Amino acid sequence: MKDTDLSHLSWDDWDEHHNPRPEAPEFDAVVETALSRRGFIGSVLAFGSGAAVMGVGSLLSSTSAEAQAAGRFAFTPIPIQTDATVHVPEGYRWSVLARWGDPLFSDAAPDLDQATGGDLASSDRVFGENTDGMELFNIGGRQVIAVNHEYVNKDVNLPASGGDVASAEDVRKLQNLQGVTVMEVAQGEDGWQIVVDSPFNRRIHHNTETRIAGPAAGDPLLQTEADPEGMTALGTLNNCGSGRTPWGTYLTCEENFNGYFGSTDADFELPADYARYGIGHEGRYAYEVHDARFDVSQTPNEPRRFGYVVEIDPANPDSRPVKRTALGRFKHENAACAVARDGRVVVYLGDDERGEYLYKYVSNGYYQPGGPTDHLLDDGTLHVARFDTDGTGEWVALTPEATGMSEVEICVLTRQAASAAGGTTMDRPEWVAVNPIAVEGYCALTNNSRRAPGWTNAGGDLVEPVSGSPNPRAENRYGQIVRWFPSNDDHAANLFRWDLYVMAGNPGVHADANAGSGNIHQGNLFNSPDGMQFDSAGILWIQTDGDDSNEDGFAGMGNNQMLAGDPETGEIVRFLTGPQGSEVTGLTWSSDRRTMFVGIQHPGAPFPDGEGRLPRSSVVAVWRDDGGLVG
Ligand code: FEO
Ligand code: CA
Ligand code: CA
Repeated sequence: MKDTDLSHLSWDDWDEHHNPRPEAPEFDAVVETALSRRGFIGSVLAFGSGAAVMGVGSLLSSTSAEAQAAGRFAFTPIPIQTDATVHVPEGYRWSVLARWGDPLFSDAAPDLDQATGGDLASSDRVFGENTDGMELFNIGGRQVIAVNHEYVNKDVNLPASGGDVASAEDVRKLQNLQGVTVMEVAQGEDGWQIVVDSPFNRRIHHNTETRIAGPAAGDPLLQTEADPEGMTALGTLNNCGSGRTPWGTYLTCEENFNGYFGSTDADFELPADYARYGIGHEGRYAYEVHDARFDVSQTPNEPRRFGYVVEIDPANPDSRPVKRTALGRFKHENAACAVARDGRVVVYLGDDERGEYLYKYVSNGYYQPGGPTDHLLDDGTLHVARFDTDGTGEWVALTPEATGMSEVEICVLTRQAASAAGGTTMDRPEWVAVNPIAVEGYCALTNNSRRAPGWTNAGGDLVEPVSGSPNPRAENRYGQIVRWFPSNDDHAANLFRWDLYVMAGNPGVHADANAGSGNIHQGNLFNSPDGMQFDSAGILWIQTDGDDSNEDGFAGMGNNQMLAGDPETGEIVRFLTGPQGSEVTGLTWSSDRRTMFVGIQHPGAPFPDGEGRLPRSSVVAVWRDDGGLVG
């Protein structure tokens, strides 16, 4: 493949390489005049003042994690690491639950072939690559995890060819290693293991039949020669974050779907709506060369059948996944559900792209436990978030009146609708999480290296730093977490108040806004918040996907990690560190809350099998020595 040398790029960087945005003019400095307004940002203006007066009492009085008071956390925070394994606090232990290539069925190869990365026949019978969002379901007392496999690492998964995707068989193998695994897990004498051959075990991949539902189902925009009715799509692509519905189904979110499509005809004129979504002439894995469905010169409507939230019933292995077009089409990160006061279903959704938007879906129908649910994610209204600098905001409904677009167009070309409605361009919305014990939502804005005066997104919307907004910093390398408090304590409300829960930064290196907010100190340095889940006690768990060079502006941050945050005090402490090169992403708990499952994606080192072995994305189980609760 032409861009083999780019195979180590993150999806985000790959997109930047293939879809460069216009250069923005030079920017001097952000004058952070309005940051002192609220929350734990309270004293962020004391940049450079080591003994800053923080809004959270003695939060900064210590400079070492180990010396931190335990607060609400039942563990002693850990230091950073730069090594090739996982670390957890004293009194906790971890083991590997599942690695790429581990059999889900006994007819798969029992061990991963280190020379080939596994054969084609086994590739849809094993745990897939690049584990990401996951949720555990208690199905009749059995523990069933649904877990995403976001993308593949060509050089790791096709080691025999050095990552060259040379045949339809290579493509099919890569397609099989992505998507979703549903697997039963159980705790035995050897700890937590996959229950091989469980009737719940299932692989959903890039060729699994799915049903298209909601307003865009059957629309000519989604019709293809193979599916003239526009109702049945094959596969779900780039499954990133996750969600769970109140009725016990799994939501898998299609993120960088654009990168799978290309054109074998270099002169093929791309449809006008492709540009906003970054769909170009060259795909990342040569799918377009070996599988005509991904060659847009032959199947130009195929990309419009991806970029959705997909609902999967983990209790029914024969059920078809359902693409819920009412939740919009964009680079979906995850889907965080809440039930409004009147029973309507609310789903918060982020679009992970520089300068794109944060969304909320509100159903028209009402959720009744035990009642019908199939309509709840098909019939409702999408809204885009507008954050005002006075600390208030509004969810703006994406209606035909507000956007000048039809209902179907709003579902399929959602980015354009959000632009028309005047949403706030954000610093890459990653995971959204809803606090189970307070009516508030959180979104990780991971970073935005291109936020600068005069810069726009692909829709022409300005992506400038705005003092006093959720996106105040130019060339934002560290990221922040915004949260909102819906009016009337009702997730269906259109109005909200907001603040920044944390601005990551490095007070040891910077004396300006890049020092971070008041709840950042030498003991909890991190960058690029990404995955987030609340536990049942209302602790916010934060996972990172950032620069782990541990140098320069990232000195003192170490490998990617998982931290725990107290929403009430703002205190943030480090709980787990991942192996060098990995991203920590995906978090769920056993039903008894005595084990947490954490995803380790694309380790750079040969984790977990050791030197001379292929690196394998893994889910690890973490528990307390004393058997206590971990969430
Ligand atoms: Fe797949 Fe935006 O992370
Ligand atoms: Ca992510
Ligand atoms: Ca990320």
